Amino acid sequence: MLDHIVRDIKEKGWSFRENILTPHDMSVISDFFYSHRNEFEAARIGKGQSRQRNENIRGDYTFWIDPLNPPAPFSKIMDTLEKLKLELNRDIFLGAREYECHLAYYPPGTYYQKHVDRFENDSSRVLSFVFYLHETWNEGDGGELILYGENEIRISPRPGSLVVFLSDDLPHEVKAATIERRSFTGWMHSKIIY
Ligand code: OGA
Ligand code: MN
Repeated sequence: MLDHIVRDIKEKGWSFRENILTPHDMSVISDFFYSHRNEFEAARIGKGQSRQRNENIRGDYTFWIDPLNPPAPFSKIMDTLEKLKLELNRDIFLGAREYECHLAYYPPGTYYQKHVDRFENDSSRVLSFVFYLHETWNEGDGGELILYGENEIRISPRPGSLVVFLSDDLPHEVKAATIERRSFTGWMHSKIIY
């Protein structure tokens, strides 16, 4: 599985893999979402002093995860990411070091407009990753991730799947869904951030 992702990243800069998480993983994670519901905060855009809420740009709610001490339901995700990091550093000299990650839920009808994950004044994000965590998703429910590479790629956010892409210069967009769209989203950084 990981070698497929590494090969995809080398060839095209992104990868999408299904069934990374088991139904059991997913149900333990769903319980976590329900029990921490009130601790999610309206996501903001920008960095530092200029951070602000703008629902026209993004409408999700986030809960930050400490990557050095993840709650038990997310330890398998962190282990998978750590293995992926070692392979990417060895194979393509990605230079990834630390993680930044959060849970997110998008209420029905909310979206995240086309953007890039790197900040203008801070280029330390090298790899973006998203695990999809809603209980169900069917064709027609919306919530696709659109990657604007050489071609436009439409990723179906199937429960238990993982998408990763190089954070450098790949514009992407989250479409509105008719269901609550949930994810574990984050970035590998090339510098020490903690
Ligand atoms: C983000 C993002 C993609 C997704 O949070 O920066 O682009 O599919 N998320 O949730
Ligand atoms: Mn993004």
